[in-house]
Amino acid sequence: MEGLSYVSEVPFVVVDLVNLRSVDVDVDDGSAWVEAGATIGELQYRIAEKSRALGFPMATCHTVGVAGYFSGGGHGPVCRKYGLAADNIIDARLIDANGEILDRKSMGEDLFWAIRGGGGGSFGIVLDWKIKLVPVPSTVTVFTLTKTSEQNATKLIHQWQYVAPNLPQDLSILLTISGDGNGSIQATFIGLFLGRVDNLVSLMAERFPRLGLVKQDCTEMSWIQSVAYLAQLPQGPVEILLDRNASVKSYFKVKSDYVNQPIPEFVFKEMGRWFEDEEGRNATISFVPYGGRMDEIPESETPFPHRAGNLYIIRYVTAEVGEISDFQKYINWTRRLYRYMTPYVSKSPREAYINYRDLDIGVNDEDKTSYDQASTWGFKYFKNNFEKLVKVKSLVDPENFFKHEQSIPSI
Ligand SMILES: Cc1cc2nc3c(=O)[nH]c(=O)nc-3n(C[C@H](O)[C@H](O)[C@H](O)COP(=O)(O)OP(=O)(O)OC[C@H]3O[C@@H](n4cnc5c(N)ncnc54)[C@H](O)[C@@H]3O)c2cc1C
Ligand SMILES: *[C@@H]1O[C@H](CO)[C@@H](O)[C@H](O)[C@H]1NC(C)=O
Ligand SMILES: *[C@@H]1O[C@H](CO)[C@@H](O)[C@H](O)[C@H]1NC(C)=O
Ligand SMILES: *[C@@H]1O[C@H](CO)[C@@H](O)[C@H](O)[C@H]1NC(C)=O
Ligand SMILES: *[C@@H]1O[C@H](CO)[C@@H](O)[C@H](O)[C@H]1NC(C)=O
Ligand SMILES: *[C@@H]1O[C@H](CO)[C@@H](O)[C@H](O)[C@H]1NC(C)=O
Repeated sequence: MEGLSYVSEVPFVVVDLVNLRSVDVDVDDGSAWVEAGATIGELQYRIAEKSRALGFPMATCHTVGVAGYFSGGGHGPVCRKYGLAADNIIDARLIDANGEILDRKSMGEDLFWAIRGGGGGSFGIVLDWKIKLVPVPSTVTVFTLTKTSEQNATKLIHQWQYVAPNLPQDLSILLTISGDGNGSIQATFIGLFLGRVDNLVSLMAERFPRLGLVKQDCTEMSWIQSVAYLAQLPQGPVEILLDRNASVKSYFKVKSDYVNQPIPEFVFKEMGRWFEDEEGRNATISFVPYGGRMDEIPESETPFPHRAGNLYIIRYVTAEVGEISDFQKYINWTRRLYRYMTPYVSKSPREAYINYRDLDIGVNDEDKTSYDQASTWGFKYFKNNFEKLVKVKSLVDPENFFKHEQSIPSI
């Protein structure tokens, strides 16, 4: 999100993993070894090639790399059922600062803990991961419903907060808020149900009747087709998941927030005017619901601490397509929106998601990796797990060989 893997103010090295992307699926064992340079799309495609009954908890975007995604935890449309990607990693091979190749056994449980959520670029270079695949049904059901303000979008968004985090684990409803071009907001509800359409429609009639979902809004498809659907790829051959170039190129700035108490309805009404600004015209505010399995995993089980009590995560994105002449303006807009949201989101610390990397939190030009400096963002991303991450880092990379603006400091 901040390009930490390919820009720096000091001389640096890029390790290009693009050719290290094989996926070795063992159907009988229900596991796979995936090399670090594979994308989410490649991983899902290779699993489906071997078995239609197995899958893996994925991000919505198929071009995301597995190494960064796994390293920061990795949530998505089925985390309510299966937890994070990192919750399903069972082994890994890593090159450490001494150039040694370590596996789970030789690296020990503390380092293995750290690389499953502590963020990329801090502990070494992961070569490949062993993952436990999850069972997926042969047919899943998806829908996309957009509601305008005349269709009570703000009321529905407000209600979504009470409904989505508490639904059965087989159903996830993602929500994206954007402007309608007229100073009002519109809400797009994207659902993935691990089951058949009839069960989904009756479940929605019971749990979220106001949304008015009917059978005609829904499509049944295979799991692998749903991966392409959620990535908003054109429906057709799923080979498109192998295309690393199939995404819109744009400049964007991202920030994140966690919400543990429903936000009052008037806030969503007021959001309309934010989207009226030029910088807001292509902006989106997306919500990914947590709850379900996410609530059952203890905060310290992995470095990713945003578990029980979090209803959902917010991702603010402002994007500009084409010329980048005044992108600073767009960044400023995102910062103002973030400030406006302060009273309604998590506090002490104001939590943030490491994979929605945000260099605004805790910038200091003088000594970027000192502990004091790092703790400003460290506790937001990791809460108390930050201290254990620092301890592990100090043991395995005391010279701070692997570093970037927000890498775990060595003390
Ligand atoms: C369009 C889009 C959609 C997204 N959707 C989701 C989503 O649904 N859920 C979610 O959780 N996140 C999502 N993300 C965020 C994504 O998880 C992060 O941006 C992640 O860091 C991407 O990983 P990467 O390997 O592609 O990126 P990179 O920029 O290559 O890597 C990210 C960081 O990890 C380090 N790193 C990369 N490879 C390795 C390795 N082999 N060993 C050690 N460190 C390594 C890099 O140095 C860098 O610091 C999305 C991002 C985008 C752009
Ligand atoms: C919007 O909400 C009002 C009041 O609750 C209701 O009467 C109306 O039918 C709703 N409109 C739509 C399009 O659902
Ligand atoms: C915006 O408002 C104008 C005038 O009321 C209307 O004609 C147009 O359809 C609206 N556009 C959208 C996207 O709602
Ligand atoms: C993606 O882009 C790269 C670089 O421009 C190119 O080499 C590659 O062939 C493209 N891949 C596909 C599938 O289009
Ligand atoms: C919004 O995106 C469209 C293309 O998707 C682009 O043409 C337009 O210039 C963008 N608007 C702003 C204000 O960035
Ligand atoms: C962005 O905000 C900074 C700090 O408030 C200000 O100095 C700068 O002029 C702003 N830039 C633009 C393009 O609005």
